[in-house]
Amino acid sequence: MYIVSTQIEHVLHESRRFAPSEEFSKLARVKSKAEYEAMYKESIDNPEAFWAKAAEELHWFKKWDRVLNDDKPPFYKWFEGGQTNLSYNCLDRHLTTWRKNKAAIIWEGEPYGQRQILTYRELHRQVCKFANVLKALGVSKGDRVAIYMPMIPDLAIAMLACARIGAPHSIIFGGFSAAALVDRINDAGASMVITADGGYRRGAVVELKKAVDEALGKCPSVRKVVVAQRTHTPVQMVHGRDIWWHEAMENASDVCPAEPLDAEHPLYILYTSGSTGKPKGILHTTGGYMVGTYYTSKYVFDLREEDTYWCTADIGWVTGHSYIVYGILANGATSIMYEGAPNFPTPDRFWQIIERYHVNVFYTAPTAIRAFSRWGDGWPARNDLSSLRLLGTVGEPINPEAWMWYHTHIGGGRCPIVDTWWQTETGAIMITTLPGANETKPGSAGLPFFGIKPAIVDEDGKEVDNSHSGLLVVQKPWPAMLRTLYGDDERYDEVYWSKYKKQNWYFTGDGAYQDKNGYYMIIGRIDDVINVSGHRLGTMEIESALVSHPMVAEAAVVGYPHDLKGQGVCAFVSVPVGNTPGEKDKEALREHVAKEIGAIAKPDIIRFTDALPKTRSGKIMRRLLRDIAAGRDTTGDTTTLEDFTVLAKLREDQEA
Ligand code: WTA
Repeated sequence: MYIVSTQIEHVLHESRRFAPSEEFSKLARVKSKAEYEAMYKESIDNPEAFWAKAAEELHWFKKWDRVLNDDKPPFYKWFEGGQTNLSYNCLDRHLTTWRKNKAAIIWEGEPYGQRQILTYRELHRQVCKFANVLKALGVSKGDRVAIYMPMIPDLAIAMLACARIGAPHSIIFGGFSAAALVDRINDAGASMVITADGGYRRGAVVELKKAVDEALGKCPSVRKVVVAQRTHTPVQMVHGRDIWWHEAMENASDVCPAEPLDAEHPLYILYTSGSTGKPKGILHTTGGYMVGTYYTSKYVFDLREEDTYWCTADIGWVTGHSYIVYGILANGATSIMYEGAPNFPTPDRFWQIIERYHVNVFYTAPTAIRAFSRWGDGWPARNDLSSLRLLGTVGEPINPEAWMWYHTHIGGGRCPIVDTWWQTETGAIMITTLPGANETKPGSAGLPFFGIKPAIVDEDGKEVDNSHSGLLVVQKPWPAMLRTLYGDDERYDEVYWSKYKKQNWYFTGDGAYQDKNGYYMIIGRIDDVINVSGHRLGTMEIESALVSHPMVAEAAVVGYPHDLKGQGVCAFVSVPVGNTPGEKDKEALREHVAKEIGAIAKPDIIRFTDALPKTRSGKIMRRLLRDIAAGRDTTGDTTTLEDFTVLAKLREDQEA
C-alpha cells in the first residue's frame, strides 16, 4: 500500500532560471515558448491528427486505419491496421539517403584504443546477417529472445535483428545475477539467450556466459544460446545448445528484408522492479513506441543530422533502448556507445570521449553528475568540451547543486539542460523543457511534451493547486505507453489504472508539484515520501539540502518509525574519500538542513557511510535503507543491488 497525501510539503525554493541563448533558439526545431505552446495545444486538442502527422515522417508498409483505439481502456491500441518495422525505420530508411555511409554507432571499448564505427550500411548488413542467424536457429515471429550482453555493438545488432523479424527481445542488464536471469527468462518463456563470454567493467571481467550456464538449469524454455566473443574468457560450450556468434555469422546471408509487422506487434519486454513482488515485464509494441521515441528524440534533443549524440546509459535499461538505439537511429543521428565505467582508467574518461568524438548532445544521470562533482572540477577542465551544445539528465530528480555543477563545468554555462522525466512504462520522454523554446529551472523537469497531459491530483482525483503537491497522473493515452505487463493484464490494470479507474488516468507512482509557471517538479516515488509529525516531506528535498553542504557527496534520506513524530528522518550521508566526519559534523548538517528547509526536516539520525546501496543503474535503494533505519531484516528483492558489501557494511556499523 502506498503512503499518499496531497500535503507533501514542498520546501525547496529555487528561483534561478536559465534561458537558451538566442543563437541556440534560432537554430532549434522549436524556437520559442509561443511556438511550443501552439504545438502543444494542437497536440492536445487533436491528438490523433497530431500523432498521425508525426507517424507519417516514418516508413509504413501499410497505413493505419485508426490512430487511437480507446474502446477498451486501459488496453489502448495505436495505429491499428498499420504495418511497419522499427529495424527498417532505424536502418533501411537511411540507405537511400546521403546517410548510408554515415556513422550510425561509434563504439568505444573500455580498454583504451578499442573502437569501432558502424555506418548505417554496415550496421544494416550485420543486422540482416544476424536476423538470418536467428531464423536459422529456429526463432520465428513472436518468439521471445533474452539478451544478456555487455555494451558492445553486437548488443545493438541483436536487438535490431529481433525487431526485424518480429521476435520480441527481453534485454537483461549485464550486471544482473544468474538469479535475476532465471526469473526474467522464465516469465517471458524465452527460447533463446544471446550473451557473450564476458564483459569488461572497471578493468575486470564479468563472466556473463557462466551466469547464463548457471541460470539455464532452471530455464526449461531455452533451446539455443548464442555467445559473442568479447573478453576471450574460457567458457564451456554446451553441444547442441550453444553457438558462437562469429561462427554463426560467417556464412549467414546479408539479405533479410524487414518483416512488415502490425503496429501492435510486441517489440520488447523490459523488466523493472515494482515496490513489491516479482519484477514487472513492461511490454512495448511496435508502432506507437517507434513514433514516440522518434519524435521525442527529434524535439527534446533537438537532433540534427550532423549531431553526434551520446547517452551514457546501459542498453539494459529503458533509456538505452529508447535513446541509444531506437529513437536516435530512427532519426539518422550518430549514436555513441561506450562499454565501460565513467572513471576508468581515470575520472575523466567521459570527458575524453566527448573531446575525441566532438559530442554535441550528452545525456546522463544525476547520480553520475554527483559522482563527477565529487571527483573534482579538475577532470572536466582537462578536456575540450566546447563541442557540446545540449545536455540532458534522466532517472531521478536532480538536486539544484548538481544541476549547477553540470551547467557550469560540463555545459560551460552555455548549454541548455533538458531534465527529462519519464519511466520504463512510458517508453519515451513525457515532461521536460524543449531546449530552444523554454527556460530551464534547476531541479525542475519542466513542461509536458506534445500530446502528454499530466496532472497533479489528490487521492480522489481532484487537481491540487500549485501550493500543494500530489500524485502525478497522465490523463490521456500516448503512443509509446506500455500496453500491459507481459502475461499479466490484471496486474497491469491494478498497478497503473485501478487508482483512478473512473477517470481512466494512468497513475505514475510519483509525487510532484507545479510552480506558478506550470513547471513540474518531480519529488520522486511516493513511497519515498515520509511523514514527520503530520508533515509530508519528499526525501529528495532533504537530500538536496544535505548535498548542498560542502561536506556531503551523496545523501539518501528515509523515514523510520518514531514514537513521537510518526516517522523520523534518517539520513545516510557519504563524504568525499579521505574525510572522517564526527559528531560535530552531524550537528552542522542538522543545522544546515534546518536552514535550507526548516527545523521539521532536520534529520533525527545521521549516519556517515563510504557508499550507498544502489541498483546497477545508479538508483539508491531506499527500500533497503528503510529496513536498516528501522532495524529490520532486509526484505524483498535484492537482486538489483550493485554491491552487496555496501549493505553488509551498513549492517555491521549498525550492530557495532
Ligand atoms: C524517476 C527511467 C525526477 C521517477 C527513464 C520515475 C525522475 C522513475 C526523472 C522511472 C526525472 C526518472 N526527474 N525523477 N527527470 N526521470 N525519474 O523506469 O521516479 O528506470 O518514476 O525509467 O525514475 O525510472 P525508470
